[in-house]
Amino acid sequence: MHMTLDLNRIAAVLAESHSYYGGREPGYRADRRMTPGARDFLGSQFQAGMVVLDVGCGNGGTLIEHASKFAEGLGIDNDPAHLALAGKAAAEAGTTNLSFRLLEVDQLPSQGWADRFDIVFTERGPFGYESRSIQAVMSVLRTDGLIFCEAIGDLHHQEVREVFGTGPRFNQAIRSLDQVRVAMERNGIGVRVAADIITKRYYPDPCEWLRFQCSIWAWSGAPLPAPDDPRIGWFVERNTVSGEIETTHHVVWVAGVKLPEPPGYVESPYFPADRRSGSGRHGRC
Ligand SMILES: C[S@@+](CC[C@H](N)C(=O)[O-])C[C@H]1O[C@@H](n2cnc3c(N)ncnc32)[C@H](O)[C@@H]1O
Repeated sequence: MHMTLDLNRIAAVLAESHSYYGGREPGYRADRRMTPGARDFLGSQFQAGMVVLDVGCGNGGTLIEHASKFAEGLGIDNDPAHLALAGKAAAEAGTTNLSFRLLEVDQLPSQGWADRFDIVFTERGPFGYESRSIQAVMSVLRTDGLIFCEAIGDLHHQEVREVFGTGPRFNQAIRSLDQVRVAMERNGIGVRVAADIITKRYYPDPCEWLRFQCSIWAWSGAPLPAPDDPRIGWFVERNTVSGEIETTHHVVWVAGVKLPEPPGYVESPYFPADRRSGSGRHGRC
């Protein structure tokens, strides 16, 4: 079915101010069949007495929602605006066991928090794809503690990438699920969950989709299109299904436990030198 574009409304949406959490939530419906939410999953893992860390906590929503389930929660983020939202929301919710700190993930090992946390997690935040950030997080996780990573998947916004060429991942030979899983395994995590999670979203009109997409473009630093950019029309034409605009949301989940011994092939500062197997069965490579 063809949707007509109202260029004045499109221009008005593009002229709004866009940020990851700012603005009004665009109208859409989501088909979440067989799509568990990371926040709900994490909620099922928290237990009384636990000390938990959210890396790239954003507005703190997950810690705040589940604060009553654990003893102490810390959220770190490198964006002061996000932390301000988190602090305000936590105060409004009346929580007393949460704190939020302005911190880069790479600064975790120098905080004196070795083995402090029972669970460390990120929801589309700064660790998962490579060793450096995973090792930083592992340095503060206790042995046998749980590590959970939700990362953006290859199919995420594939419809946008087809038309606009922007998106988180391009022509990678390796799938994000494999990349995150292997990076975690290499760094001493016994992987228990490795899953592709795919949701479909349906926007009732082009402006609702555009408002959402602008928040992503603004956050990722991609330029916004001009109101008369023909790609907006092409995108709408290609992705309209029964009167709604359909997009794909894809994340991967990789979760597991911190093993007592590092794998033989990795030299990682989070394991004491005398426990590294170095010249062991696998050797170093
Ligand atoms: C996609 S947002 C997700 C936020 C939050 N987890 C949520 O689900 O709403 C990613 C967050 O990671 C934060 N972030 C990105 N790089 C970071 C880094 N190197 N160190 C700490 N936080 C970082 C961003 O500021 C942002 O708040």
